[in-house]
Amino acid sequence: MGKRSTLMSFSLLPWLLSMVVMVARAEDPYLFFEWKVTYGTLSPLGVPQQVILINGQFPGPNLNTTTNNNIVLNVFNQLDEPLLFHWSGIQQRKNSWQDGTPGTMCPILPGTNYTYHFQVKDQIGSYFYYPSTGFMRAAGGFGGLRVNSRLLIPVPFADPEDDYTVMVGDWYKDGHVALRGRLNSGKTLARPDGVLMNGKQGKVGDPKEEPLFTMKPGKTYRYRICNVGMKNSINFRFQGHHMKLVEIEGSHTVQNVYDSLDIHLGQCYSVLVTADKEPNDYYMIASTRFTKYHLQATGIVRYQGGKGAPSTILPEAPTNWAWSLNQFRSFRWNLTASAARPNPQGSYHYGQINITRTIKLVNTAGTIDGKLRYAINGHSHTDSETPLKLLEYYQIPGKEFKYDVIKDEPPSNIDTLDKFTTGPNVLNGTFRNFIEIIFENHEKSIQSWHLDGYSFFPVAIEVGEWKPEKRKNYNLLDAVSRYAIQVYPKSWAAIMLTTDNAGMWQLRNESPERAYLGQQMYISVLSPERSLRDEYNLPDNSLVCGAVKSMPKPPPYSI
Ligand SMILES: *[C@@H]1O[C@H](CO)[C@@H](O)[C@H](O)[C@H]1NC(C)=O
Ligand SMILES: *[C@@H]1O[C@H](CO)[C@@H](O)[C@H](O)[C@H]1NC(C)=O
Ligand SMILES: *[C@@H]1O[C@H](CO)[C@@H](O)[C@H](O)[C@H]1NC(C)=O
Ligand SMILES: *[C@@H]1O[C@H](CO)[C@@H](O)[C@H](O)[C@H]1NC(C)=O
Ligand SMILES: *[C@@H]1O[C@H](CO)[C@@H](O)[C@H](O)[C@H]1NC(C)=O
Repeated sequence: MGKRSTLMSFSLLPWLLSMVVMVARAEDPYLFFEWKVTYGTLSPLGVPQQVILINGQFPGPNLNTTTNNNIVLNVFNQLDEPLLFHWSGIQQRKNSWQDGTPGTMCPILPGTNYTYHFQVKDQIGSYFYYPSTGFMRAAGGFGGLRVNSRLLIPVPFADPEDDYTVMVGDWYKDGHVALRGRLNSGKTLARPDGVLMNGKQGKVGDPKEEPLFTMKPGKTYRYRICNVGMKNSINFRFQGHHMKLVEIEGSHTVQNVYDSLDIHLGQCYSVLVTADKEPNDYYMIASTRFTKYHLQATGIVRYQGGKGAPSTILPEAPTNWAWSLNQFRSFRWNLTASAARPNPQGSYHYGQINITRTIKLVNTAGTIDGKLRYAINGHSHTDSETPLKLLEYYQIPGKEFKYDVIKDEPPSNIDTLDKFTTGPNVLNGTFRNFIEIIFENHEKSIQSWHLDGYSFFPVAIEVGEWKPEKRKNYNLLDAVSRYAIQVYPKSWAAIMLTTDNAGMWQLRNESPERAYLGQQMYISVLSPERSLRDEYNLPDNSLVCGAVKSMPKPPPYSI
């Protein structure tokens, strides 16, 4: 008997081995895309202007992907300026090579093409992309990117009838070149000229307006709403309907019901809306928040077989800050729901991990040579000629940048400091630390911050200045893991994350104006071993430029 079972396990061994090999080889599906990026002329605010189109579309096409899909996306730059696309919120695990920021990649030169290869690894939810070079987001080139759950992973709500993407944001009549020129000359941008919803402003009461979306009576639809704008927070609401919040930036939330949502720069929310009202047309409304002026866009949603025009009486946006802060506090992670993996989101107990480093960042406005600049801890970032990641990989960082030009604490005279230092701003982030970042906003305007490569837990937003004692107010249980967080005027926000994704990651103010004028930095998370377990090699098709253009490639990472 004993002999027999030994024999049995021996004869099973090759089969088992072949299974292991098969599993390893069963690659995740590939999705192939080809994008032609061109200029076009459109009149979203009634006057013709130059915009950026992707395959003729404005906004660009929706990227419809599923967890772990491999994306192969060939970008043809038919503009007259260098181009990169950034995939906002996509973590690019081990792969900052494809993150599409000027600190990680050489740009795609006009008249050439480059093929991005990346995986939407272990993520679900709502994301967007945009051009990250030359202030181009002001001209378009952005669009939605959704990551569907795999079939076998439970989603905490019934399959919606359809899934709609709504890109909202404030907008200028001037093109990106004129706006950039103004910033280069040391001036701030004036107020935007309007708000767009999927490329249109809409006109309340116009009987000729076509609907953006259609709903079948009785059915429930998912709407993914992202703020891809330039300056302002947006309040989004749905005439006559409630919105059930189900997801924020890659996390399933507790499903509270809202009449309106504040969506700050660079943020995305998913809501469910049921077509259970009178079968008419209804307006979706996106309007600027916390501004003296009122700019808005509207878009029509039509009930299939519906009877009539939408009411021109629009629901109003809330007016105060406290409302917005309270809404933030109402967002909770659904601890029992799954995200990209079958285990519940709440099985990651972030609140029980000890903080190994606290980084406090203060945003201010000031000048360099008399020109307006924005800074973090008194330093205003400029891009190096050679992408930071390449300088680091080729092991010549000292040439164009030094690590840690800012400290983990702002200078003590931060509030009176109006002359900034400048140059690339790169923080040495130690691999696999559990860090706390405090964003402290001493200014009178709202800020919105985004970190690439990670999602993080925003554990608190409070008015005033942060102190270590504030930690006792942190939400250490069910903060929503996400990729962008707002900081109200004269307030602070605290986020927590594990630096377990090796790479060069941009931390930026989501206002393109502020980021362009220096309010951004990079966190370099290096695997000490230069090991393939921690980070992929420089891809073979990577563009090279600047100081590394004609250098021999360094030896690849080891296994
Ligand atoms: C998006 O992808 C999902 C999963 O493959 C598919 O079921 C759905 O029909 C797609 N939607 C669109 C609009 O292409
Ligand atoms: C450019 O596009 C061509 C044609 O599709 C393709 O064969 C080539 O690999 C692309 N080049 C790069 C660098 O992606
Ligand atoms: C959380 O998700 C579970 C599915 O795991 C679902 O049954 C439950 O209704 C959700 N809870 C809330 C409060 O949304
Ligand atoms: C966290 O720190 C405390 C006090 O320094 C220590 O007792 C505890 O073991 C640490 N916990 C973990 C998970 O490292
Ligand atoms: C970054 O920090 C790590 C750990 O603190 C240290 O070992 C390394 O030398 C630092 N690298 C640089 C370039 O300062």
